[in-house]
Amino acid sequence: MTSTTAGGPVLADEDPPGKKPAPQDVPGAFDAFDRDDLPTPPGATWALLTSLLGPLRARVVVASLVLLVQQAAVQAGPLLVAFAIDRGVPAFRDHDHGPLIAVGAGYAVCSAGAGLLQYAFIRAAARINQDVLLDLRGRIFRHSQALSVDFHERYTSGRLISRSTTDVESLRELLSEGLQELLGVVLSFVSITLMLLWLDLGIGAIAVASFGPLYVLVRSYRRRAAKAYAGRSTAIAAVIVKFAETMNGIRPVQAFRRERANEADFAVLNHRHERRNGDALLEMARYVVGSRLVANTAVAGMVLWGAYRVASGTLELGVLAAAVLYLRRLYDPIDRLAMFLNSYQSAAASLEKIAGLLAQTPMVPEPAAPKELPALTGGIPGREVRFEGVRFAYRTGGEVLPRFDLTVPAGQTVAVVGSTGAGKSTLVKLLARFYDPTDGRVLLDGTDLRDLPTPELRRGVVMVTQEAFLFSGTIRENIAIGRPEATPEEIERAAKAIGAHDFISGLPDGYDTDVRKRGGRISAGQRQLVAFARALLADPAVLILDEATSSLDVPGERAVQQAMDTVLRGRTAVVVAHRLSTVEIADRVLVMEHGRIVEDGAPAELIAGTGRFAGLHRAWRESLA
Ligand SMILES: Nc1ncnc2c1ncn2[C@@H]1O[C@H](COP(=O)(O)OP(=O)(O)OP(=O)(O)O)[C@@H](O)[C@H]1O
Ligand SMILES: [Mg+2]
Repeated sequence: MTSTTAGGPVLADEDPPGKKPAPQDVPGAFDAFDRDDLPTPPGATWALLTSLLGPLRARVVVASLVLLVQQAAVQAGPLLVAFAIDRGVPAFRDHDHGPLIAVGAGYAVCSAGAGLLQYAFIRAAARINQDVLLDLRGRIFRHSQALSVDFHERYTSGRLISRSTTDVESLRELLSEGLQELLGVVLSFVSITLMLLWLDLGIGAIAVASFGPLYVLVRSYRRRAAKAYAGRSTAIAAVIVKFAETMNGIRPVQAFRRERANEADFAVLNHRHERRNGDALLEMARYVVGSRLVANTAVAGMVLWGAYRVASGTLELGVLAAAVLYLRRLYDPIDRLAMFLNSYQSAAASLEKIAGLLAQTPMVPEPAAPKELPALTGGIPGREVRFEGVRFAYRTGGEVLPRFDLTVPAGQTVAVVGSTGAGKSTLVKLLARFYDPTDGRVLLDGTDLRDLPTPELRRGVVMVTQEAFLFSGTIRENIAIGRPEATPEEIERAAKAIGAHDFISGLPDGYDTDVRKRGGRISAGQRQLVAFARALLADPAVLILDEATSSLDVPGERAVQQAMDTVLRGRTAVVVAHRLSTVEIADRVLVMEHGRIVEDGAPAELIAGTGRFAGLHRAWRESLA
């Protein structure tokens, strides 16, 4: 059996196709999580941008000033040419070399200055970029990590990856090339127009008149490109999501020979991205052709008219030469403006998506006024657990726990059994506060879980599940996660107590063996043993086991059971089990059906009766016989 994602409702529920509307939503209402981008609160994008750039304000200002001066140096060129033709050459004829030498020197200074300033600007801009992107990636990671399980079940990891890679990347493009481009384009537009108007009002006026059609062109391009780019970025996100999903579930994919079907699905998404990309490029091509047409018409008109005026003696040749040089420079950046608009569009779309993600608040928030747990009493490490009028529904489904009341005294071991989908895992997830109840309270020694600071809660309640996830690192580190300050002896003691020491000692580097690739090097049962050792070392008041022994063989399970006798002693424990063998160690058995407790009693008492548990127990006995 391939057990990678077996039974784990958390993994199984990635946007089920026919899901019911969330109770708090209007039936049939559209779930924002079906879309790639979460709704971004108004102003959030802008707020994000200012909060990113705010701390770098001074450097942004300096960089802009540098660019301004650099542009002035660049734009001085044609003016110097005009001066050389109209003043320098006549003076030269009169044997006055001064003006030409001055122009030459001026040209040299401006070129060198422009180069140096450009260098300075690029360096400054690169530094600003790096800082912004570093900050942004960090924020995305920290924020995503802090969001509740509820969020992650609906917002796939592929989308998160897409946020912190492609979206951050498109912002990088904008910041590193786009903004410089835009500033350059705007500055040169303004300065050249002013210069043209100053050189000759008529020619300047034609240039200004050509801005009308250009503006219309840019506007329509912007509108159309925005659509094309939004389509493109959604399409690429879909490609990444599919990729991540397939590779995360590679084992079931191969086991069920889903490769071909996946290839077909992927090809569809891949082609869609290609088409969207093509749409975007086509818009760009249209724009470039249109803008060149306008520019060339304007330049041709001005040159013709200017030549006529030079011939009739109303315009100096040098001024016309300078005007033509300026005109070329005026329209040159218009193609680049399209590039800028592109990077702007995709960066704006990306930034909005990132802002939407960062605006999500955890469904399981930290308490505003945290309370401490009372000191342990009764000489045992366990604490009392109480569910008071708890009702619970997942956001994407109907009510799972209709109204639930349960008290587990400190130190009691409770086994929860019941058919698949009865709500057992939901119950223990509420106890570990992966979710908050829709109504009612879950109390630990009388304190509402919602009032406990997260570190205290995580120390107090530890859950071992079937999935037994291992982090990259050594076995030792994996065991020590629950108590990083534990000594090597304590780690080994925990492993010995749970029966994991033997297999660990047999590994190539013993406790220092690296378990890279999700513990790929060790078996599922061994992973569970490591998870048990981790839980034992964490020394919690409440231990939750959700089918935590499902991957163990019978001797392994027996060993764990024996160990659990010691591990669980004095602790409060809730053990969800399909195998009745696990139930034998319990002080009390709860049988759950449809989110309700239908039987509650000591194992022996229930077995003696005629209820469901007695039936289950009989079936189990028979299967062993
Ligand atoms: N993340 C989720 N989102 C929406 N519905 C969920 C989610 N997890 C579980 N459910 C639903 O809640 C109900 C109870 O599920 P739960 O996982 O608690 O059952 P269970 O008793 O642990 O079952 P099993 O024995 O198969 O592990 C099921 O109907 C299931 O479809
Ligand atoms: Mg379950």
